[in-house]
Amino acid sequence: MGDLENDIELLVCTRCHLDGDSAEVPQRPGAALFSRLVDAGMDSVRVTPVECLSNCSRGCTIALRGASRWTYIYGGLKPDTDIATIIEGTRKYRSTPDGVVPWRERPEHFRKNCIARIPPLAAPAPNQGKI
Ligand code: FES
Repeated sequence: MGDLENDIELLVCTRCHLDGDSAEVPQRPGAALFSRLVDAGMDSVRVTPVECLSNCSRGCTIALRGASRWTYIYGGLKPDTDIATIIEGTRKYRSTPDGVVPWRERPEHFRKNCIARIPPLAAPAPNQGKI
C-alpha cells in the first residue's frame, strides 16, 4: 500500500445485478465486475468488494475515493464491456490531486452515469463549483 495521499480505493459492489434485474444467476454481474477488475491489476489502486452502495436499481455500481479527494459513485456498469472504461476513469481520477477530473476528459460512461459525488472529509473544497 502506498502513502495515504496517493492511496486510491475502487469500491465495487459484488451484489449488483445489471440495471436492478433481480434474476438469480450463478455469479452476479457485480461479482464478475469485481473479479475482472482485480485480474486487470490496476497500479496503486486498491480494489475492494462491498455488498451494497445503495444504487441497486442502476447496477453495477462502483465508487472511487481517496484521502483529500472527492468521492464519485458510478452506476450502469457492465462486466463484459466496461472494464476499460473503469480503468481509464480510475487512472484519470488518480492523476488529479483532488479527484476532480475535468468534465470533458472523463470517460463518456462516467459523464452520463454519475450517481453522486461527495466532498472530501478534510481540506477545503475550492472546486465546489465544478462537477
Ligand atoms: S446491490 Fe449493488 S448497489 Fe445495492
